[in-house]
Amino acid sequence: MNFMHTYGKYFQIHTWGSSHAAELGVVIDGVPAGITLSETDFIDDLTRRKAGAKGTTPRLETDEPEIVSGVYQGKTTGAPVHIRFHNAAHDSTEYENRKIPRPGHADYAANVKFHGYQDERGGGFFSGRMTILLVAASVVAKKIMPQLKISAEITQVGGNSNIEQALDEAIQQQDSLGARIQCVVENLQAGIGEPNFDSVESVISHLVFAIPGAKAIAFGSGDAADMMKGSEYNDVIVSASGETKTNHAGGINGGISNGNPLVFSVKFKPTSSIAKSQQSFNPETNQTETFTIKGKHDVCYALRAPVIVEAVAAIALVDLFFAHKAKNHE
Ligand SMILES: Cc1cc2nc3c(=O)[nH]c(=O)nc-3n(C[C@H](O)[C@H](O)[C@H](O)COP(=O)(O)O)c2cc1C
Repeated sequence: MNFMHTYGKYFQIHTWGSSHAAELGVVIDGVPAGITLSETDFIDDLTRRKAGAKGTTPRLETDEPEIVSGVYQGKTTGAPVHIRFHNAAHDSTEYENRKIPRPGHADYAANVKFHGYQDERGGGFFSGRMTILLVAASVVAKKIMPQLKISAEITQVGGNSNIEQALDEAIQQQDSLGARIQCVVENLQAGIGEPNFDSVESVISHLVFAIPGAKAIAFGSGDAADMMKGSEYNDVIVSASGETKTNHAGGINGGISNGNPLVFSVKFKPTSSIAKSQQSFNPETNQTETFTIKGKHDVCYALRAPVIVEAVAAIALVDLFFAHKAKNHE
């Protein structure tokens, strides 16, 4: 059985920690022995996820991974790989004093579910901070399937393809923005994906919705599929290897990869924590009140999300690849 912090059947990740806890980490089970792995392998992806650019949080963590176990003399041993990170650059004061649940955030729902015992500091384990663990796990996943070329990019911020302009306006208005990210996976062999419950779409979606703030996903032309005619939507097969003239299906038929590029896009909502004052219900006064959120927040956290979207694609595909092999499909 999988619990809330564990995902995967054959390449299984277990995350722990929270935004303002001393540490957070990921334990990855199912990593084959003999893969070269060291802390430096994580630098590129972790750097892409880092804050610092316009529209991202001023909270700057070192993001240095520590491989605790599962690697010996530079190679994975076949035991679970445990990677952890320290939290240092945070200030929890704002959370210790605030009793009003932020609208749009997980505060109210978490309070009900965990009876007030949840660690709310920095959003606890609902924080975008947790996505560092997905990125870390994906570094290992990508070593298992090095042939995959996975690339995600922002296509719109707040509906505007002029990202700078959209950000300048939102910063000036003390507001926040969402964004749309498109991800393309090349060199994915045909035949990956377990139809019905573990289709490629299902597994990728499951992991995409582990990224806080992800609100919609579409594969290929899925967003427009209801408006198209069959003659427009159908991808004409043009070669014995299944290459198609168009790719409205996003590289998946019947939940199985068809050998064409896997294409999907994800929509992220605007950041809930905005500098502008807003209203929420104060349980202490029993009234809806105007309040202002302090602390360190991203105006558009989705600017940091392309590498996170790539990460969940890699984790999903490795799990499905192992499922394919385990079932002796090849
Ligand atoms: C990298 C990253 C950074 C985030 N930073 C913030 C933030 O600074 N403030 C905020 O309110 N939400 C932030 N979020 C989104 C919240 O974590 C998310 O909205 C919250 O957990 C509630 O989940 P939901 O939006 O999926 O319902 C961030 C998300 C990601 C992926």
